[in-house]
Amino acid sequence: MDDRLAQLRDLSARWHRKCLLGLEELTAEEIGVLLDTADLFRQAFDAGERKFSLLSGKTCVNLFFENSTRTRTSFSLAARRLGADVVDFSASTSSLSKGETVIDTAKNLESMGIDAVVVRHQTPGTPHLLAQNLRCSVLNAGDGPHEHPTQGLLDILTIRRRLGRIAGLTVALVGDIAHSRTARSNIWGLKKLGAHVIVCGPSTLVSPLWQELGVEYSYSLDAILPRVDVLNLLRIQFERQASRPFPSVAEYVSLYAMDANRLKRTKEGILVLAPGPINRGVEVTADVADGSHSAILDQVTNGVAVRMAALWLVIGNAA
Ligand code: NCD
Repeated sequence: MDDRLAQLRDLSARWHRKCLLGLEELTAEEIGVLLDTADLFRQAFDAGERKFSLLSGKTCVNLFFENSTRTRTSFSLAARRLGADVVDFSASTSSLSKGETVIDTAKNLESMGIDAVVVRHQTPGTPHLLAQNLRCSVLNAGDGPHEHPTQGLLDILTIRRRLGRIAGLTVALVGDIAHSRTARSNIWGLKKLGAHVIVCGPSTLVSPLWQELGVEYSYSLDAILPRVDVLNLLRIQFERQASRPFPSVAEYVSLYAMDANRLKRTKEGILVLAPGPINRGVEVTADVADGSHSAILDQVTNGVAVRMAALWLVIGNAA
């Protein structure tokens, strides 16, 4: 335990940011510090240690304007496991419905004495706007289709822990690339750490322009299956689409659902990820989601460790 605390303090000395807004702006070194810190917390969980007093006396506010199960609970648990107090703010019952702006709401909350705001909002750039207007730390828990840095980090941590490395791996992000913040954060993080990334899905959701980010694109899952090490199966974000991107869910399933037959055509040690919520039978069948190649629930455990790392690094360094 003491050894782990010393390692955590060494890692924290290598971190200098007050906010975590996206993986695009981070260096490979900074992503490495976040992953190493999260890995220490994950090792602590496995050794039965869950409680740390690294952030006792600090207060975090969850400011969620979009629905969430995993991310919100995970951030709350992470803050509590570090000894911080947590306040959950619900947009639907707040004064936003009386016309208050997001910045005014956040400034009022800040005036009550808080150390970090964890924000999820449907508009890209909202966390960045708050970071410009607040003195406390701001963490992005998803801004529209733009970025979801802790999701990207937990996906990458899961790959690193399962396969032992990131550099040189081929990772396919499959599904609704156009509307996915998870895809964007994964691309930035994976590319910086030396992975080869393929974005794959219907032509209405995957554009050749993605090549400008240094990724390969494909409209055929069957064509890329034999050469990928990791499949990250993204949910179709129906709530963000102005029009239907494909004729029917059945057609999507026939071309892109990861099922037992497709699994037979992958590399032996294929790792199957999904950020959740999963739609069983759409992007992945139940037998694959619950099968031995799936790390879906391990991702959720790693998510708490990643959020502990993010909170500890940004708040600890803002003090
Ligand atoms: C993702 C999100 O909200 O962006 N989910 C999550 O955070 N666990 C992906 C999704 O909603 O499909």
